Amino acid sequence: MSSVVVVGTQWGDEGKGKITDFLARKAHMVVRYQGGSNAGHTVVVDGEEFRLHLIPSGILYEDKICVIGNGVVIELGVLVRELQYLQERGKNTSNLRISDNAHLVMPYHRRLDEIEEEQRGEDRLGTTKRGIGPAYRDKAARFGLRVCDLLERETFRKKLATRLEQVNHLLCQVYGTEGFDLEEMEAEFRRYADIIEPHVVDTSLIINQALDAGQNVLFEGAQGTLLDLDHGTYPYVTSSHPTAGGACIGAGVGPTKIDRVIGVTKAYTSRVGDGPFPTELTGETGDWIREKGHEYGTTTGRPRRCGWLDTVILRHAVRVSGLTGLALTRLDTLGGLKEIKICRGYRYRGRLLTEFPHSLDVLKECEPVYEEVPGWDIDISHLTDYDDLPVEAKNYLQRVEELAGVKIDLVSIGRERAQTISLHRVF
Ligand code: IMP
Repeated sequence: MSSVVVVGTQWGDEGKGKITDFLARKAHMVVRYQGGSNAGHTVVVDGEEFRLHLIPSGILYEDKICVIGNGVVIELGVLVRELQYLQERGKNTSNLRISDNAHLVMPYHRRLDEIEEEQRGEDRLGTTKRGIGPAYRDKAARFGLRVCDLLERETFRKKLATRLEQVNHLLCQVYGTEGFDLEEMEAEFRRYADIIEPHVVDTSLIINQALDAGQNVLFEGAQGTLLDLDHGTYPYVTSSHPTAGGACIGAGVGPTKIDRVIGVTKAYTSRVGDGPFPTELTGETGDWIREKGHEYGTTTGRPRRCGWLDTVILRHAVRVSGLTGLALTRLDTLGGLKEIKICRGYRYRGRLLTEFPHSLDVLKECEPVYEEVPGWDIDISHLTDYDDLPVEAKNYLQRVEELAGVKIDLVSIGRERAQTISLHRVF
């Protein structure tokens, strides 16, 4: 048995979809454990591009069991469209399993997300407006609707009617906008229920059975460490736990069942949404990285803010998720730069900080302290062997390992599955 959790170490968009897809070759089961359709995973297989938001990217293999765990919040309209999209492209979706204990993202969650972002004005969080915050809020406040409620016709109608009365009051009386119609929403969700019902199971049970049977299980995190509700740049975070602990809660497995945790990190840093970003490059180099790396959001199309690799952030991710190794992506994007900078600490009011601060007021004032290493000018995207990398690229990787305090297991040098160099075995 082997179980591996894949997490993002930065602000999301590190290339987790590609790394999960690569590792899924050796897995029997792939499990999503948190987040919702705010995530966007792009995977390229034999030149064909797939964009997924909810379904684990393991679905692109014929024979993997793919699980949407209890910790995910599911927008059924998106899920049903994704199933259809995969079926139209000839993919087998019969291996999808959906937790009966997962919560639903309802149409009013999306509406509230939009209204609340608007109301925050200049202090907006830059959410994806997919209703994620309001859905997790309802879950925590015990107003949520779960997949198992949806499958019980009477229970669902009763719970929906109660919640809609409260939400419509808020929408009409407080925000002065239109409410939702119970009959219409119920009919829409009945259609969804019929489509998803064959996939619904107790996913914690089947994951634990797979582990006990000695199968390889891969847990796929969405977003990244700095978007974690507890360990991220609060309040500029998402409402779930993308760190490794989230896998236990969001999949229903004990921490004793996790063998390895791989942190995916870009060779530089990017961020969508608002909030402080110490190594952000607002000039020419930042634009160059954005264009070369096609740094535009999969879910919203927004341009991503780009900057140098920050190993203060990496060390934070290593600590809070107990990373056993790194998967470094987009090394090819840095090719062509004369010098590459790596942030190893922050200067704050004359002091050197080596650990990531929690206060955003402190973070805003932090000036990155850089080391410079020479770049390389050859195209590395076709290489298959670590030994063939230019010496400058190897030196860069070595320095990242030293500063992060953890080894690099995988290096990604392009979008294709095959453009991945293995340094150490993961499964
Ligand atoms: P929410 O998850 O839509 O509530 O957005 C909260 C913050 O997380 C915003 O800064 C979003 O841009 C960010 N975010 C959410 N999902 C992703 C993702 O998959 N990649 C990168 N950023 C994300």
